[in-house]
This record gives sequence, structure tokens and C-alpha cells, in this order.
Amino acid sequence: MNRMDFLKKSAVLAGVCVLPPVLHQSCKGAAYVPFAMQDEKIKVKKSDLAEHPFVLIKPANLPAPVYLCRLEGGGFSAVLLQCTHRACEVRPSGKELQCPCHGSVFSPTGEVLESPAERPLRRFEVVEDDENLYIK
Ligand code: FES
Repeated sequence: MNRMDFLKKSAVLAGVCVLPPVLHQSCKGAAYVPFAMQDEKIKVKKSDLAEHPFVLIKPANLPAPVYLCRLEGGGFSAVLLQCTHRACEVRPSGKELQCPCHGSVFSPTGEVLESPAERPLRRFEVVEDDENLYIK
């Protein structure tokens, strides 16, 4: 196993989203995508993720955007970008999600990497069909 294979397998085990190296340095690639509400689920076209390692969605009924990314081992992750410390909006920054208020850092799948937050970001279940993702 070479170094890249090892890193990929480690990322899958850690639930890390697939991010190309350029995104480790900045927030390039962030894009709000259109969505529809269907049966109280957020419906997003899979094709909207084809050109971005992650996308943002901002439904009116949620207090912050949803961060949606493809997981390296397959499947998708969706988390609410609202800090669990004092509710500031968390921002994608490279391979992490950072809170500008007091410095908490989360993984792309919402786990706390640095305090003061102690709880993970709110996660949503993501199901898929051939063309769409449904976040609930
Ligand atoms: S509100 Fe995010 S670290 Fe305090």
C-alpha cells in the first residue's frame, strides 16, 4: 500500500469527505446549489456535486446552511453549519469546518476536532436514488 492509498483508507475510516488537495488550502469549490423540498426532505441533484467536493444548501427553515459532501468510501454526509457551542455559523475551511466565534473546529462529517464545542454538528440522513439526494 502506498502513502496515497493509506491516506484514502484512513479518510474512509474517519468518515472524511473527499477533498482534492487544493481544497486543503482554502475554501475554493464552495457553491450554493439549488434544491427543492419534497416530503419534508431537501432534494438535491447528484449532478450538482459532480464539479464540487462539497456544496452548500440554505433552506429557509434551518438556521444555517447545510454542508453536503461525498464520502470517499461511498455515500454522502450532510451537516448543519451551526456551531454547537453558541450557535455561530461554521464555515468550510480547507478540509475542516471552522467556527469564527470562539475557534471550534469540526470534521466535514461534524465531529468535534477542537473545543470549546463539545458536541458534534447536527447530522442529517442522506438517501439517494439514481439522480437525486434526499436530506432528512
Ligand atoms: S460559537 Fe462556535 S466556538 Fe463558540
